Amino acid sequence: MQRTLVLLKPDAVQRRLMGQLIARFEAKGLNIIAMKMLQVTPELAKQHYAEHVDKPFYPSLESFITSAPIVALAIEGLDVIKVVRDMLGATNGLSAAAGTIRGDFSSSRQMNLVHASDGPEAAQRELSLYFEEAEICHYEPVLTPFMR
Ligand code: TYD
Ligand code: MG
Repeated sequence: MQRTLVLLKPDAVQRRLMGQLIARFEAKGLNIIAMKMLQVTPELAKQHYAEHVDKPFYPSLESFITSAPIVALAIEGLDVIKVVRDMLGATNGLSAAAGTIRGDFSSSRQMNLVHASDGPEAAQRELSLYFEEAEICHYEPVLTPFMR
C-alpha cells in the first residue's frame, strides 16, 4: 500500500467541484484516509512548491494557490501515486486527455484543479506538510466486486 497527497486547489473549491472530484477517487477504489479544508499561506506555498520557487511562473502560482481555500486529502491504495497522477492527466488542462480530471474540467495551465504528489519522496514530504501522523485515519474498506 502507498499513500499520496492530493490538493483540491482554489479553483476546484470556487467552482464547487469538490464533491465530483472526491467521487472520482472513491469510485476508483482508493481510500481517503485524511481530509481537511485550509487556506494556504505564502510560507506553506513556498514549502509545497519548493522545486518551483525560482521559476518565472512561481509568483503567479503562489498568488493562485493562496487565493481561496483548498482541500487536502491523504489517499491510500495500491500504486496510488501513479494511479492518481494518471487520473489527473497532463499539467495543462488544454492538452490533458479526455477522461482525466484536468482533461474533463480544465482548459488552463495554472488553474488545473488538482495537485498530486509525483513520487514516493514527494508524497512523504508533502503529506507531512499538511497532516500530522495522528490525523491519518485507519479503517477497513468494504471491497466492491471489481476490486477483488
Ligand atoms: P508542475 O509540478 O510542473 O505540474 P503538476 O502539477 O502536473 O505536477 O507544476 C506545478 C503547478 O504549477 C502546475 O500544476 C501548474 C503550475 N504551472 C504554471 O502555472 N505554469 C507553468 O508553466 C507550469 C509548468 C506549471
Ligand atoms: Mg508537480
